[in-house]
Amino acid sequence: MALFSRNEKSSSEGRVKVDDRLRHIAFILDGNGRWARRRGMPREFGHSEGAQAFKRIVRYCGDIGIKIVTVYAFSTENWSRPKKEVDRIVSLLDEYIDGAERELTENEIRYTFLGDRSVFSPEMAARMTRLEEASAHYEKRLNIALNYGSRAEIVRAAAELAASGEPITEESFASHLYTAGCPDPDLIVRTANERRLSNFLLWQAAYSELYFTPTLWPDMQPEDVDRAVEDFYARERRFGGVTDSN
Ligand code: FPP
Repeated sequence: MALFSRNEKSSSEGRVKVDDRLRHIAFILDGNGRWARRRGMPREFGHSEGAQAFKRIVRYCGDIGIKIVTVYAFSTENWSRPKKEVDRIVSLLDEYIDGAERELTENEIRYTFLGDRSVFSPEMAARMTRLEEASAHYEKRLNIALNYGSRAEIVRAAAELAASGEPITEESFASHLYTAGCPDPDLIVRTANERRLSNFLLWQAAYSELYFTPTLWPDMQPEDVDRAVEDFYARERRFGGVTDSN
């Protein structure tokens, strides 16, 4: 049996198809600033293109059968950037959430926001909660990490768990993370030639495969996703055990 089948006929639906071994793919978006600088443009321009790439890649992942996509769109550290840049990123995110709310029934995606939303405007935070609630019954999932940091997430989960008096187990701990109820990522892709997790899903990435590409995020195309998927299927995941071949 082929590891993944190819559907050459449908360009809109993509070429690779995935199975249950690749249910969840996560992206660390990187390279928006460099993409803009290489064109002599302000960094904000790279973020606008990055938002287009985000829509394109999320759509493509759905087309090839990936059930869960998680993106690291804005970290707790990103606030230290110049105000003009932060304002542009936040307004792109706000516009995206607004659009997602309007296109809810068309897209049929369940949205979850990972991170502390209390720092955003009350209107934006309310929109995020509304979108989560209104989309909770859909099967395909999109998790967007905003004002997210994995260490802070872990500390928050530990505090909640301690306060709850529940027995401390891996399962009870995971149920207090922002990703509660969501399977861990099978594959984490980072763009723009950086090779680190940068405080992203540190608990959830315990057995994730990691894939790094030099492609800058605004340049990400379906073909780049295909390459990451092909690379994933060429690997042997043992989860700490052994297989027939070793
Ligand atoms: C990484 O590039 C990008 C970000 C930190 C932030 C913002 C992401 C977007 C605007 C795209 C997602 C949009 C939506 C609507 C969800 P960088 O600026 O760190 O790149 P650099 O390392 O080249 O400077």
